[in-house]
Amino acid sequence: MKKFIMAITALGVLCSTLPLMVQASPQGDLKAFRAHFKKTFPDVKFDDFSDGLYALPGAENRREEWQAIMEFPPYEIELEKGKKFWEKNKLASCFPNKGRGIANNYPYWDSKRKEVRTLVMDINSCLQQKKMEPIKDLNKGTMAQVVAYMKSLSNGKRIKIDLSDPGAIAAYEKGKQYYWARRGQLNFSCAHCHVDNAGKFVGGNILSAGLGHGVGFPAYRSKWGGLGTLHRRYGGCNKNIRAKDLKPQSETYRALELYETYMNTGLPIKAPSQRF
Ligand code: HEC
Repeated sequence: MKKFIMAITALGVLCSTLPLMVQASPQGDLKAFRAHFKKTFPDVKFDDFSDGLYALPGAENRREEWQAIMEFPPYEIELEKGKKFWEKNKLASCFPNKGRGIANNYPYWDSKRKEVRTLVMDINSCLQQKKMEPIKDLNKGTMAQVVAYMKSLSNGKRIKIDLSDPGAIAAYEKGKQYYWARRGQLNFSCAHCHVDNAGKFVGGNILSAGLGHGVGFPAYRSKWGGLGTLHRRYGGCNKNIRAKDLKPQSETYRALELYETYMNTGLPIKAPSQRF
């Protein structure tokens, strides 16, 4: 951890990409965000950004290692557990198209409840509708397994987020604000690492591009000893910069997920995955 802190303080903290965040509309943001990564990584194919850091130049060895791991994915047993939970509790009955091919439209703005809804929330609501206990741990274990299984039913489907409601736009703006604002003792924003310094090494890690964030989640990490959700990863990143970790599924993390996922528009779902 100390090594990591020392390494990141050596990164550039002058946000040269700030013009990326001053676009007037989500469509403008998306265009600028994509153009930035196309310019920074001209040889990376668009779809490959779904593979996180493994897609980036300099990570070739990591990618080979990863491809070997993915031949016998370490999350297989957990994915099977997620499937069993899904089938045993008949969760398919709560979702359109029995939950197949719909995860690429998450998170979404619910205009009746006036909130951003995530897969995690809809899975728990489904259990409650069936008069069952909602899953308590929203970071790992059963919830990560069920989300992983449900997302796997949408693999290959391209991300498409509906921002037509003014409420959705407001939540999106909140998420965008969070992504670009400095915080923590180290005074970093998400963008400092994942936009400005994407592709650079810190403490033996390559910083992934913001483009593609979350597409592979839930992800298996040996550090976690299992699958973890996207909000668990957000928590880890906030801790790295000594900022306050927010609760998984808090309004802010859901807004952040909406912003990050909208930036992934058009990328194919590829979940779950393994990440270092
Ligand atoms: C000091 C640098 C730093 C900051 C600031 C930072 N992260 Fe990270 N983040 C990392 C590192 C290191 C990893 C692991 C390697 C990688 O995938 O980039 C990571 C991984 C991730 C991943 C997993 C990507 C994948 O597909 O595997 C996501 C998502 C993510 N960060 C989101 C965020 C968000 C959102 C913020 C702001 C709240 C943030 N990060 C702030 C360093 C940072």
